[in-house]
Amino acid sequence: MDFNEVRRGYVKSSEKTIKIHISELKIGMFVSKLDRPWLETPFLMQGFVIESLDDIDAIAEYSQHVWIDAVREEWVPPEQRAVARGQSKKVSYINKVDTKAEHSAALQTYREARRITRTLLDDLRLGGVINSEQAKETVKDCVHSILRNSDALLWMSKIRSQDEYTAEHCLNVCILAIAFGRHLGMSEADLEKLGLCGLLHDVGKMKIDPEVLNKPSSLTEKEFSIMKAHSIHGRNLLMASPGIPNSTIDVAYSHHEKMDGTGYPRGLKSSGISELAKMIAIVDAYDAMTADRCYSPSIPSTEALKIIFKDRGTHFDDRLALEFIKSVGLYPPGTLVELVNGLVAIVFETNSKFRHLPKIIVVKNQDKPLAKNVLVDLADVEKQTLEKAFLIKRALKDGTFGVFIKDYREQGLALG
Ligand SMILES: [Fe+2]
Repeated sequence: MDFNEVRRGYVKSSEKTIKIHISELKIGMFVSKLDRPWLETPFLMQGFVIESLDDIDAIAEYSQHVWIDAVREEWVPPEQRAVARGQSKKVSYINKVDTKAEHSAALQTYREARRITRTLLDDLRLGGVINSEQAKETVKDCVHSILRNSDALLWMSKIRSQDEYTAEHCLNVCILAIAFGRHLGMSEADLEKLGLCGLLHDVGKMKIDPEVLNKPSSLTEKEFSIMKAHSIHGRNLLMASPGIPNSTIDVAYSHHEKMDGTGYPRGLKSSGISELAKMIAIVDAYDAMTADRCYSPSIPSTEALKIIFKDRGTHFDDRLALEFIKSVGLYPPGTLVELVNGLVAIVFETNSKFRHLPKIIVVKNQDKPLAKNVLVDLADVEKQTLEKAFLIKRALKDGTFGVFIKDYREQGLALG
C-alpha cells in the first residue's frame, strides 16, 4: 500500500504492526490502524506518520489504542526543515466572520476577479502586456475575503464553466494558494505575493496555439514540447509587463519543475526551486486534477490529495505537500458528499476541530430532490444530538446523482 512505503527519513525494521496505547505514541511512528473506523475520524490518510505533538493529541481525541508499523525513528524536527524560507514569524488567523455572512461578499469578489482575469488574459492574447496594478488589486480583494473567512471564496472556486478553463484555473490557483498560505501562517503581504504568483503562473498559455491547448486527445511529442514552452512564454510576457515582481516571473518560469529534476523547462532540482514555485506547483496540480479538462475528467478532491501524497518528495516538496493536504482537509467547501444514510449533500463550512464533521447543505435523497435545502451541522453527531447515520460516507465527483455545484453558487444560501 502506498502509505506504508518507506518514507524519506524512516527505515522500516519489520513489516509487523504493533498495538500500543496512545500514551506510548511518539513523533516519527507510523500509525497504520486505529481502534475505530477511519470514517469516524478527521484523518485524511488511512495511515500516516506522526509529525508533531498536535498529531498525538488529535489521535488521542478519537482512540485509546492504535496499531503502528515498526519503524526506526530517524526524525528531523520540523524547525530544522524549511517550511517557508524567509518566513520568520507565523501569523495565527481566525475567521472574522462566519461563512454565511461572507458568502455574498465572496460571490461579488469572485465575479469581479473572474472578469478581470479574463480581461488580463485577453490583453495578452491580443499582444498587450499585463496590467499589473489591476492584477494586484484583484489579488488583494481575494486575500481580504480569505482572511475574513476562507470557506466562502473556496466554495466559489469549486464552480467552473468548461468553456473558460484557463481563466478559472488561474483564479482558482490564486484562491487556493492564498488559503494554503493562510494555513501556513504567512503574512498578509506574503499572501498577496503568493496570490499574484498563482493568478499569473500560466499566462504563457495565451501564446500557445488553441488547437494544441484545447486538444481533447493525447499530445504528440512535438505538441507536448510546444505546450511545455508556456513556462518560457510566461516568463517573457511577465518580464515585458511593468510592475510585476521577480518572484511572480520566477514562478511562471519554474512551476513545472520537480524535486527530482525531471520537470521542465530547466530540469531544476529541489534546491534550485523557490518556495513559492514549490507551493504553486502543488496547488496547480490539485486544481487541474479536480477540474474537468478537455483531455481528462475531474477526480474527487480526496483522490487528488492521495496523488500529491504519493508524489511528495519526487514531484512535489515533501513538507509542503503534507501541509497542503492538511490545508485542504478531508472535505473542502463545495465538495459533494454522500452520507451513510444515503442523503446527498454539499460541504458548506469546514470545522477546524473536527474536520470530518463540517456543516453541510443536504440537497437530495439520491433520486429525489428535497423540497428545501437543509443546513446540517455534523458537529451535532459529537454532541449526540444527531444520528451517526449522518456521517459522511464518501466524497463524490461533481455531477453524481445529477447534483452540480454550479447550480448552487448563488442559491447556496436558500436554505430551509
Ligand atoms: Fe502551467
